[in-house]
Amino acid sequence: MGDYSTWENWIAKITGDLKSSRRWRQLYPISRNQMNSPVIFASNDYLGLTSHPIVKKSAISAIEKYGSGSGASRLVTGTLDIHIELEKRLAEWKGSQSALVFSSGYSANVGVISALGGDDAFIVSDELNHASLIDGCRLSRTNFGVAKHCDLGDYERLLGENREKRLIVVTDSVFSMDGDIAPLEELAKLCAGFGALLIVDEAHAVMGPYFNLDSEGKYFGAKIARIGTFSKTLGSLGGFVATTSEICDLLVNRARSFIFSTALSPGDAGGALGGLSVIQSEEGETLLGNLRKNVEVVAPYLGLKSNHPSPILPLIVGEESLAIEASKFFLNRGLLITAIRPPTVAPMTSRLRIALSAIHTSREIELLCLAIEEWLDR
Ligand SMILES: Cc1ncc(COP(=O)(O)O)c(C=O)c1O
Repeated sequence: MGDYSTWENWIAKITGDLKSSRRWRQLYPISRNQMNSPVIFASNDYLGLTSHPIVKKSAISAIEKYGSGSGASRLVTGTLDIHIELEKRLAEWKGSQSALVFSSGYSANVGVISALGGDDAFIVSDELNHASLIDGCRLSRTNFGVAKHCDLGDYERLLGENREKRLIVVTDSVFSMDGDIAPLEELAKLCAGFGALLIVDEAHAVMGPYFNLDSEGKYFGAKIARIGTFSKTLGSLGGFVATTSEICDLLVNRARSFIFSTALSPGDAGGALGGLSVIQSEEGETLLGNLRKNVEVVAPYLGLKSNHPSPILPLIVGEESLAIEASKFFLNRGLLITAIRPPTVAPMTSRLRIALSAIHTSREIELLCLAIEEWLDR
């Protein structure tokens, strides 16, 4: 054991450990629209809306109207009418009574879960949930159990063992590193049986699963809070929860990441409104159709079903060093796909997380498929 009581020694040790385990990460600056830059197959801009003229124009108009920042938290002077308009549109889109926006999807997850947890509660969280959901569980200081991935029997066991508590089930709708989907209908029925609140993170649910709520705002009898982000499908930045008015009002009073953080910027709110108008238009349907087509073409090259439910296609390689090698292999062929390593994924499941977009051209998709074949045959 060395002496790690000084900052110099501690930083050297932690840095050395990360580097020797091949988990050291570096930033990769991207210059958009530059000749010879790689084609990005790692972004969450699934419909290509970050560069859509309507989305850009909507963000710019909001900045011109309201300024570049919102100036204060929502409870002080940060609530602009564009926030109210956005929340109304989001509630309509999700079929919920109300919606509340946060400055990111991360802060929505952390804020919602910690506001609704407590000593008297118990959370059941899927083992492949996104880090922001896990951090929400931890920050809520609520006891929680981790259910085996999408294993309804395990969910039922954990709920049953804690039935005297105020129960919460937390799951991604589409899992961010595997691109598979949660059995939402069955989970909702289970939640209804136990009186549990179902919190679903729909950050990656661009191709579904889609679902409607009943007139009481419930899903198969379960109280539900749907969390989303503007940073992926909507081409902007920010997060939201769509749920009952009662819960939204409570969050305004209890969600610390909402109360103690400056309100979503007008530009981001404007961008999200623009993104929403595109996806609700005929053009949105066309973009979604392109995305589905791209998924259908690429999925079989990775041994996935052609009706794979999301634009996230994992190429699991195992070792950290092999994931880095694979990423370089694709980059040498003009394709940028970042290596995903622990702690983002479990040890020995390092991977390339291939993310497709509606605006990838058929030539770009063809290049990707060829490179996948070449990598698998090497
Ligand atoms: C499933 C999931 N939830 C939440 C987030 C956080 O969203 P945001 O990037 O808006 O903070 C992400 C991604 O970063 C995610 O993949």
